[in-house]
Amino acid sequence: MKSFNIGAYRRIGASETLGKASANFFDPLNEEATKQREEFAKMALKDSAEFLYNGGQVAILDGTNSTVKRRLMIRTFFASADVASRLKVNLVFLESECHDEKLIDQNILNVKLRSPDYAHVAPQEAVKDFKQRIAHYQNAYEAVREEEGSFIKLIDAGKYVIGHMIRGYLPARILYFLMHIDLKKKAIFLTRHGESEFNVSGRIGGDGALSSSGKRYAKAMADWIIMQPEFYNREQGHMHIWCSTMKRTVQTANAFKKRIPNVKIYQWRALNEIDAGICEGKTYKQIESEMPNEFTARAKDKLSYRYPQGESYKDVIQRLEPVIFELERSTQPVLVIAHRAVLRCLYSYFMELPIQSIPHLDLNLHTVYKLSPGDYKTEVDRFTFGLMASKNNSDPSHQ
Ligand code: F6P
Repeated sequence: MKSFNIGAYRRIGASETLGKASANFFDPLNEEATKQREEFAKMALKDSAEFLYNGGQVAILDGTNSTVKRRLMIRTFFASADVASRLKVNLVFLESECHDEKLIDQNILNVKLRSPDYAHVAPQEAVKDFKQRIAHYQNAYEAVREEEGSFIKLIDAGKYVIGHMIRGYLPARILYFLMHIDLKKKAIFLTRHGESEFNVSGRIGGDGALSSSGKRYAKAMADWIIMQPEFYNREQGHMHIWCSTMKRTVQTANAFKKRIPNVKIYQWRALNEIDAGICEGKTYKQIESEMPNEFTARAKDKLSYRYPQGESYKDVIQRLEPVIFELERSTQPVLVIAHRAVLRCLYSYFMELPIQSIPHLDLNLHTVYKLSPGDYKTEVDRFTFGLMASKNNSDPSHQ
């Protein structure tokens, strides 16, 4: 998936709209600017098609495609003989309509004022300018209509969601995903379980218990999380704590029970570690010597490689979908106690890392990764606890 932001093309092509009040550029009566804006939309459109020609599955053309004429231009482009002969696109318009003045003001303050458009512009002046820009958009705005084909309409940031002619797997997933979005930003804490006995002996998979060092981490981590301002709030109670159904994460999560006996811990099967099939319980060295073909195949393409009778990273990504939807939907901070492969996928989703890099990400034992999603990107803070795992732990991410 890749997003093509028409505003980003404008920022390069019409740099006079940057860093100062520029509402006039968005006035539909300003013919010269309207022409330029159309050109930027066409550039983004062509690049999005190029991305789809090269195997991309979902391209987002992000911009003010808010007139019938602009949307017709998009439809005509994909229906043109040249494009249609190379690409069969399932076009879905996504319209976000907001009547809630408070939400609009919040969005201007939190998002728009941070945009490069208003760098060095005094906040009051920027707010005034952006409201003027909205007024221009409103003058030209034509709601998406049934005769324009498939569309999804989000009203007041998801209070109502309307789907029209949503057909096919991906459009349906997108609609379902949008139903889970919550604009309130909450922190997500990710940690692997404390060191397990399997980690100590360098064996993968299995359902081993924590080592003594792992137990110390579980306690130190729970003590620290409980002290965090995100842990408790009066209206919503304590942060959600999720773990897998495997002994090592359940044992890690149970450290909270010692401090807060009635704490709720949710066990998700979807958070279980990648299933290494016939390689479960073996060390990497054993796999290399006993099954050299498997070892080489995995080294060649770790993302797609599926362990015989087990899973691939791609399988794990797929089974994590409901977890991601719940994380998006949650209005409360969440602590996820899981495993290396699983957390690599979740971390990469929030950090928007390329899919190929997922299986190679370093996520150490005895470390909490705090993700703070922002409007433009997610910030990450890393907390270690001065607790080394056992010396002979041959977990490669620990060296
Ligand atoms: O070694 C710990 C572990 O969580 C294993 O259970 C799992 O098979 C492995 O890490 C996943 O990491 P990688 O995909 O790099 O082998």
